[in-house]
Amino acid sequence: MKKLIVGNWKMQKLFSDIAPYFDVFKDKLKELPFDIGLAPSSIYLQSCIQNSVKTPLMIGAQDVSEHEIGPYTGDLSAKQLSSIGVQFCIVGHSERRHGHLESSELIINKAKRLQEAGLCAIVCIGETLEQKPYFKDVLKQQLADINTLNPELLVLAYEPVWAIGTGQTAQIDDIQAAHGYIKEFLKETSYQFSCVRILYGGSVGLLNAASIFNLPQVGGLLIGGASLNPESFKQLIATLG
Ligand code: PGA
Repeated sequence: MKKLIVGNWKMQKLFSDIAPYFDVFKDKLKELPFDIGLAPSSIYLQSCIQNSVKTPLMIGAQDVSEHEIGPYTGDLSAKQLSSIGVQFCIVGHSERRHGHLESSELIINKAKRLQEAGLCAIVCIGETLEQKPYFKDVLKQQLADINTLNPELLVLAYEPVWAIGTGQTAQIDDIQAAHGYIKEFLKETSYQFSCVRILYGGSVGLLNAASIFNLPQVGGLLIGGASLNPESFKQLIATLG
């Protein structure tokens, strides 16, 4: 299975940024040995999908409703995302878990809606700084119902909360310990789950991307800040190929 790199734009870009961003990716990156995705704000998904033609970039959303359909003002359903050609969606990002008090149960339900609509769910997990001494217990709780999902449409992203947007990347040892634990957990779940890719996210940049990406336990990268500038994101990607 190819490794995966996903840029998470969060709430950072404006409409006028979209076309120039994709123009940078219209040449030279087509034969990469890994998959690349971008997750823009939902208002720009359609424009990004149109602009991504002739680039290697897949387009995904940053969140989805746990409901299938109905009177949920402001929400977006998995089927709506799928109807415009969205290919994947992040759920359970720490900015949703902690900023919006989303529970692991809710996040698994969101992932289920995505998979029912044929979309790949990228489920984020990770401990806070206070939880670091017992990170395994935290990850175990966050992974508790993962076996109710379809492993073929599932990617996990380990993002220690203390490393997100702080410039404080986790040490290689920490990443290996967490990814090793998650891999073991998945292996015990079933053979199919043992093949699920586990991304690392949290202050990945040009200088540390390759050393993390090349770890055997790491299935790819989830990149926030360093995905915003197209030229430097492309440069970062080039260090991995
Ligand atoms: P960062 O964000 O790369 O800016 O730390 C990662 C993320 O939140 O997914």
